[in-house]
Amino acid sequence: MKPYRFILLYSLLLCGCMADTPHWHIGVSQCSEDIWRDWQNEEMKLEAHFRDDVRLSFATAHDDSRRQIQQIDSLVACGIDLLIVAPNQMQNISSAIDRAYDSGIPVIVFERKTDSHKFTAFVSADNYEMGRQMGEYMAVQLGGQGNIMEVMGLKGSSPALERHRGFHDAITRYPDIKVVATLHGDWTEMTAYEATKRWLNGTSVHGMSIDVVFGHNDRTAMGARRAFEEQVARNASSQGQKDILPLFCGIDGLPGEDGGICQVRDSLLTASYIYPTRGDLLLQLALEILEGKTYKKETLLTSALVTHENANVLYLESEEVVRRSQRLERMQLLASHYLKELSAQKTITVLACGVIVLLLIAIVLFYLYHRGQVNIRRERVLNNLWNMDNSPDPPTCISAPEASSAPAKQVIEGTLPSETDEPPGSKLSDASPFINLFREVVERNMSNSELSVEDLAADMNLSRVQLYRKVKAITGSSPVELLRTARLNRGYQLLLTTDKTVSEVAYAVGFSAPAYFTKCFKDKFGIVPGEVRSKVSA
Ligand code: FRU
Repeated sequence: MKPYRFILLYSLLLCGCMADTPHWHIGVSQCSEDIWRDWQNEEMKLEAHFRDDVRLSFATAHDDSRRQIQQIDSLVACGIDLLIVAPNQMQNISSAIDRAYDSGIPVIVFERKTDSHKFTAFVSADNYEMGRQMGEYMAVQLGGQGNIMEVMGLKGSSPALERHRGFHDAITRYPDIKVVATLHGDWTEMTAYEATKRWLNGTSVHGMSIDVVFGHNDRTAMGARRAFEEQVARNASSQGQKDILPLFCGIDGLPGEDGGICQVRDSLLTASYIYPTRGDLLLQLALEILEGKTYKKETLLTSALVTHENANVLYLESEEVVRRSQRLERMQLLASHYLKELSAQKTITVLACGVIVLLLIAIVLFYLYHRGQVNIRRERVLNNLWNMDNSPDPPTCISAPEASSAPAKQVIEGTLPSETDEPPGSKLSDASPFINLFREVVERNMSNSELSVEDLAADMNLSRVQLYRKVKAITGSSPVELLRTARLNRGYQLLLTTDKTVSEVAYAVGFSAPAYFTKCFKDKFGIVPGEVRSKVSA
């Protein structure tokens, strides 16, 4: 594989290793932002921590239906795989939910209803039943007689409508209990406070006292309570009148210091009703749908009344749950920190391996290049040494007159290898004096057919082994091979430049048998000695 291809492949692999894209993208469209939604969002996030293939995108409409429609459309445009939605109001949001559903995205509607049937699953507690049980509880508290103020949730939102219905169905069974005021808030403490304050400012007109306030949620009940407290304080200072505060009941029963359970425990509220958030369940359901598992189309969440009797136990239990989830979150944080470190280490290891592999490739390439260069230099030395081109094509060379005379002249005059052929300081340059000496000894004794490597070595004051090692190291050939090459090259030149017969030439260059000279000559030059003459004369 070519090096650049390898590098490309390697980079792609590296990117693949580092890419960490979650598989499922879930959009959560919340109608409001408040502590109830915060609890729920946190539960979803905590649950998502257990999965590394889930990404959550949250949007909150701040009780504005038009805004929620836009947010749903943009979540869908973002390419979410599933939508979890709490519709602000029953009617207005349906068009956006229908669009999401029609585009093939599964939709989980939770806690608030739409007037469309285009959803995949629905999760909620029974708002009608909660309203009804609250009505029953208040009737018991009042001993079947008294005045109630109802402060409703946002107009057009399904929990407000259902809680109202359930509550009235219960109260109508008690003829001496009257709902003397039904005010409208939008689930926030502020709107409940203002509506109650407005109503109280006109009490002289209404001229009646309130025994119980039913807020559709705990924040609403607490807003109404603030307005009543202010009025009691005002009356006490202006008229010295000691008014009694009514009872306040709400719904939500959240854990935590700001939650309804604590408010009941501290007697700020007389009762609340747990309206379960269950973000964990929503996320599990979403994944069941996405992964094609069987799931419940409708989930009814169980809830319970919170009163002064059970508030403390519930509070302690909820605190324990909070502590556990905090511990879990800390563990999760640690784990994700550890995972991040691990993936950083993985990246570093992959990079380091990459660098090592690239270095190895570079070393191998450099080695191959260097070996090629050394071979070229060796060949050049050999050519110069014996003044003969190793080209296997001497007949073509000698067919041109100028080509034929040039190598002969070199041999006859005994031209030395050029010093400039080798880079200064190279091994081969350093070896030139030795090789020159070897060549001189070979040329001087070449005609001696009895000449042995021992004779050559002795002439150079070396042992046979020393000569072999040195010559082999410098030229890559053995002394015997070089001797034969020298004899054949000289024979070639003699054939070109003298009238000697082939036999005379063979003896002159140290071959004891002309037939063997002819064979070696053919092996080296590809032609028999006689052909050299005929080519020249042709
Ligand atoms: C939270 C909330 C709760 C209430 C519910 C009604 O946004 O206002 O307090 O019970 O929504 O949908």
